[in-house]
Amino acid sequence: MTVNVPPLKCQGIKTKLVEWIKDHAILEKDGTWIEPFMGSGVVGFNVRPNRAVFADANPHIVNFYNAIKSGKITAGIAKEFLEKEGALLQAKGGDHYYEVRERFNKDGSSLDMLFLNRACFNGVMRFNKKGEFNVPFGHKPERFAKAYITKIANQIKYVTQAVSQYDWQFVCADFRKTIGSASQNDFVYCDPPYIGRHVDYFNSWSENDEQELYDLLAAVSAKFILSTWHSNQYRTNSAVEKYAYRFTVLTREHFYHVGASEKNRNPMLEAIVLNYNPMPKIEVQLEKQMALFERPHKSDYVIYTPTTDN
Ligand SMILES: C[S@@+](CC[C@H](N)C(=O)[O-])C[C@H]1O[C@@H](n2cnc3c(N)ncnc32)[C@H](O)[C@@H]1O
Repeated sequence: MTVNVPPLKCQGIKTKLVEWIKDHAILEKDGTWIEPFMGSGVVGFNVRPNRAVFADANPHIVNFYNAIKSGKITAGIAKEFLEKEGALLQAKGGDHYYEVRERFNKDGSSLDMLFLNRACFNGVMRFNKKGEFNVPFGHKPERFAKAYITKIANQIKYVTQAVSQYDWQFVCADFRKTIGSASQNDFVYCDPPYIGRHVDYFNSWSENDEQELYDLLAAVSAKFILSTWHSNQYRTNSAVEKYAYRFTVLTREHFYHVGASEKNRNPMLEAIVLNYNPMPKIEVQLEKQMALFERPHKSDYVIYTPTTDN
């Protein structure tokens, strides 16, 4: 599967896990895809549901996608903007980056958000206690080369095309509200911040939030998938043991690269938690793959707990 990468990146982006998640999601024909922690949006954007609610507590992400939806940001507008700002970055380096960051922290312009997201260190989104973007410069004044701008413009074009074809809403909301709106035929995909990692103003996540999320999901009539981590070489996620015992848990190994060296690959067991039995869908896919003489996915049903009455 070719995964379309969205124009905004964020920490915890699930680009590498989209196919796995998509393979297990079951959305009814008339249902709505509900994503309470959209982040970059990469999962839902690649599922391409007819109807979707993409929500996040971070208003900058939501404003950016609403600007695409309203036509305020198009591929052409973004290209022109990045060419202009990219030339200034090349001429002035970090000084220009910090000028744009200051400007963004005053007026929250979505185009500045795009520029900062792509010029900052490690392409992350991090905001301080006052809600100000505080990621330092990525030290690449030549960042916005022609090919790179074209790539970003194409990513915007892809979203523009999708929002004109499908009924997709982008809303700034806390997950409690978004999950509360789900009904039986909908599908809820949750990817909350991981406790103790990526902490910033819009990403603080406590034990209490985790528990509330599981409790809300236990009560929801829609099917859901919750992404989380299961374990790494040092520890196991106790929340999975504590709260996910009532659901199906599937795991898959994933490698995170630390720095540039191939040697620094840290294995992590990623998990998805589901409130239904995904087997029928998977069996059909395996049959299709076998029919094509392909090896079945090395997908990994490490833990399987049958659900009670879902
Ligand atoms: C791990 S990221 C989601 C990544 C996304 N699945 C992707 O692949 O790009 C978690 C997101 O949850 C949002 N968030 C944090 N706390 C939230 C809350 N209480 N309600 C809604 N969204 C929240 C953050 O702003 C962040 O964008």
